[in-house]
Amino acid sequence: MKLGKHALITGSSRGIGRAIAIKLAKHGVNIAIHYYKNEEAANDTLLKLREQGADGFLVQADVSNPEDISRMFNQVQDKFGKLDIFVSNARPDMSAFYHSPMEITLDHWRAALDSQAQAFLLGTQKAARLMLDGGRIIAITYSPSGRTG
Ligand SMILES: NC(=O)c1ccc[n+]([C@@H]2O[C@H](COP(=O)([O-])OP(=O)(O)OC[C@H]3O[C@@H](n4cnc5c(N)ncnc54)[C@H](OP(=O)(O)O)[C@@H]3O)[C@@H](O)[C@H]2O)c1
Repeated sequence: MKLGKHALITGSSRGIGRAIAIKLAKHGVNIAIHYYKNEEAANDTLLKLREQGADGFLVQADVSNPEDISRMFNQVQDKFGKLDIFVSNARPDMSAFYHSPMEITLDHWRAALDSQAQAFLLGTQKAARLMLDGGRIIAITYSPSGRTG
């Protein structure tokens, strides 16, 4: 079934984000492929979408930075005009933020909140404004951190 919808998936250059992108592409969803530093991997995701008959474009942003998030959604608005699906999936390497309570520094703590909680809040606010006919917002997280991090 071809849906003809539009999605933004943060962190879709590789890993779980890329797998979600390919799955949605199989259903005809066009995708804004977000990456942070690895443009080559993001391009590879785009090729894989095209093999599925979908299309998309690349968008770079540090999701810890509110200005980058604004720029990313401006690009989505320019290219797609609307959004149906937003998947907040990007995450820095664990060592940037994930440490035991007695080891974690304030810089790690802020990196954790800025890159995930804040990124999800700001992304949701921006995405909802582009969801003219309703849509889906999905947060991917690391469940063990709820118990141990
Ligand atoms: N892997 C697991 O076992 C597992 C289990 C449960 C949940 N999860 C969750 O699933 C999500 C994806 O995990 P993954 O293992 O697939 O990730 P991954 O392979 O390490 O990929 C991380 C992605 O996030 C991007 N990224 C890194 N730092 C960023 C930053 N500061 N700003 C914007 N984007 C940034 C990377 O972009 P570049 O490619 O450009 O660097 C890449 O696309 C995460 O939220 C994670 O918590 C993972």
